[in-house]
Amino acid sequence: MSINNNFERLGGEYIFAKVSKKLKTVDKNGLIKLGIGDGVLPLPKPLVKSAAIAAREMGKTKTFKGYPPASGYGFLKTAIKDYYRRIGAYISEDSIFVNDGAKSGLASILDLFDNITAVINVPSYPAYLSANIIRGNKIYHLYANAQNNYLPTPDGLKLENCLIYICSPDNPTGEVYGRDLLKTWVDFANKTRSIILFDSAYSRYVTTNAPKSIFEIPGAKTCAIEVNSFSKFACFTGIRCGFVIIDEALTFCGKSLNKLFAARQDALFNGVSYITQKCAAAVFTKKGERAAQKTVDYYLDNARQLKAVLKGGGVKVLDTTNSPYIWFECPDDLSGEAFFDYLLDNYKIVGTPGGGFGKDCKNYFRLSAFCTKKDLSLAKIRLQKALKSL
Ligand code: MLT
Repeated sequence: MSINNNFERLGGEYIFAKVSKKLKTVDKNGLIKLGIGDGVLPLPKPLVKSAAIAAREMGKTKTFKGYPPASGYGFLKTAIKDYYRRIGAYISEDSIFVNDGAKSGLASILDLFDNITAVINVPSYPAYLSANIIRGNKIYHLYANAQNNYLPTPDGLKLENCLIYICSPDNPTGEVYGRDLLKTWVDFANKTRSIILFDSAYSRYVTTNAPKSIFEIPGAKTCAIEVNSFSKFACFTGIRCGFVIIDEALTFCGKSLNKLFAARQDALFNGVSYITQKCAAAVFTKKGERAAQKTVDYYLDNARQLKAVLKGGGVKVLDTTNSPYIWFECPDDLSGEAFFDYLLDNYKIVGTPGGGFGKDCKNYFRLSAFCTKKDLSLAKIRLQKALKSL
């Protein structure tokens, strides 16, 4: 046995771990955290109620539950399937695998393939890259930039038989893939025997009629896997629940990926707790939906206000309206690291240096809008001052 030397190739720590280590030495008093996208609003009441009822059921012999089914309880899968139907995506319950969130969902799918070439945007959610580096996979980068409106297309892409990562709304850019562009990607994937790994963790932030799921696109069932999470709209970052969707019709090298993933989950995953799944299912009730939407609207409004301040200060911000993240080139030719230090040391604002989202993003920066209105008011004042003083 030898050590997996791929860890050496990660190029340092995971960006959010690095930032939180840095914060250990900082006085927390008055600190405004706009770094990692972590919820600050409490769990909506209908969800708390549902979890509390489930907890009480676990306390009685008659209703106690042991191991949950590895792919999730039927009640949650039905609720997810019905929600997808409402947004125009027709998926079956058997295509759903409930898990503990998007990050592990994204990593576990890699078990299905060998000799992977991963197609990953620059910038992108850093876990895509890390998961592939750790496994020693080949990586091909597509650049999201002003020329392609920050939405890469498959035009001129010579690869086939690859794993294509698409996140919409995108983290960190906030850009949303339209129906036509997604159809182009789906056609490309079907033609080249590739698989799209569609990350819809931020789909509830879509305010236009852009697709919320890859399964709204004809042809997606034969080339796409979707990963979703309750974290960013149902305040689940601390509870952990998400799901993977793999249609039964999806085959690769003659094998059913749905069956392979079911076998993978049966062997390596013992399911998500009953209490968590009951809590998650409440999101799909009328009251739960309303509460989750309120949460999303709250963070979207924060993002709008932060963007306005940055724009007012002359910063070139991506003009997105469907995301809790704000992505921009650092003012005054500063590097992301330097801007991070400047904001933290002088204004007690924590952001995320762009370099964490791809090595060519060193001059970029991401602010997250996951903060309370109280912190938002302070952040706006401090940001205005910060930009003026550069
Ligand atoms: C982010 O800030 O990009 C994410 O919330 C971090 C994560 O989901 O791991």
